[in-house]
Amino acid sequence: MKRVHNFSAGPATLPLSVLEKAQSELVEYRGKGSSLIEMSHRGVEYTEVNEQAKSRLISVLGADDDWEVMFLQGGASTQFMMVAHNFLNNERTANYIDTGAWSAKAIKEAKLFGNVHTAFSGKEGNYSHIPTDSELTFADDAVYTHFTSNNTIFGTQFHTEPATGGVPLVCDASSDFLSRPLDMEKYGLIYAGAQKNLGPAGVTVVLVRKSFLEKQRTEAIPTILNYNTHINNLFNTPPVFSVYMVNLVLEWIEEKGGLNAFVKMNDEKANLLYGEIDRDDFYRGTVENDARSKMNVTFRLGSEELEKTFLSEAADQHLVALKGHRSVGGIRASIYNACERSSVQALVDFMKAFRTKNG
Ligand SMILES: Cc1ncc(COP(=O)(O)O)c(C=O)c1O
Repeated sequence: MKRVHNFSAGPATLPLSVLEKAQSELVEYRGKGSSLIEMSHRGVEYTEVNEQAKSRLISVLGADDDWEVMFLQGGASTQFMMVAHNFLNNERTANYIDTGAWSAKAIKEAKLFGNVHTAFSGKEGNYSHIPTDSELTFADDAVYTHFTSNNTIFGTQFHTEPATGGVPLVCDASSDFLSRPLDMEKYGLIYAGAQKNLGPAGVTVVLVRKSFLEKQRTEAIPTILNYNTHINNLFNTPPVFSVYMVNLVLEWIEEKGGLNAFVKMNDEKANLLYGEIDRDDFYRGTVENDARSKMNVTFRLGSEELEKTFLSEAADQHLVALKGHRSVGGIRASIYNACERSSVQALVDFMKAFRTKNG
């Protein structure tokens, strides 16, 4: 078997031990004579997986019992609409911090349901900046403040929660969820597509605080889009395989020492890579230094031609999925929890050699 050094932004690399465990259980699940994905989602086996994944998530985050967990479908993109549909109407306003393409998409959907106050927009600066609290403005009486904790495309990240404006935070945490602890007190709702840090595509994890859900709007919401439909209840068939995998990844996170252990490992990987980028101006980071993401490291070379050569020679060394997002170009190395330090080291070694040859 030859596994590559995979820097995909998502679906992203998963821990090898998790893949191997899933492989060993796929055809026959724990002596039951069939695969878990061939069994009823209301049976004993899946119920156990679903409940275990929920309680592991609560425990890994250190969340209190005011929090509910849902495993939903439709991707994080559905949450752009679902959050607004549940909490906004023509009389209500939410603050939105616009730090990239995903934030902008969330804003577009929210405007279909209620009033959006843009607390900050980084668009003019090409989304290379993360605002400080003093740059944020808030509407009076907002229901929530929405932000994107990590901007997968541009390679920026909030290193601490933004000021809350006195209202609960709603966070699209898709691309840095479980890479570090969160100050749960500040949040009302957190959502994340699993396919970066948490498992395969197909499930979106949504955590909601019960006391925040009390602020739900009173007008009718289609049943499947109403958060209350999914709390303590499987309304319809969940993405059973994806939730099973999320449960295995959570078990792996626990075994590695929980979120604080990942802070250390993720810091080390990011420092290694940014250190190489900053060595001279052969590689150029694309965002402000204090906005840099520890998950998606974006940089450019002297010309697009040189970037093409870089990508092609990297692939020859089994360093793959390094092409920047199609909307911005350049190079992007996604180094989520499951990306091994040895993969980052292999990339850095390649970058050194490439500079020597072409610098
Ligand atoms: C920060 C962020 N939000 C939302 C999305 C959209 O997620 P999905 O494809 O699950 O709808 C992505 C996908 O890359 C993302 O990176």
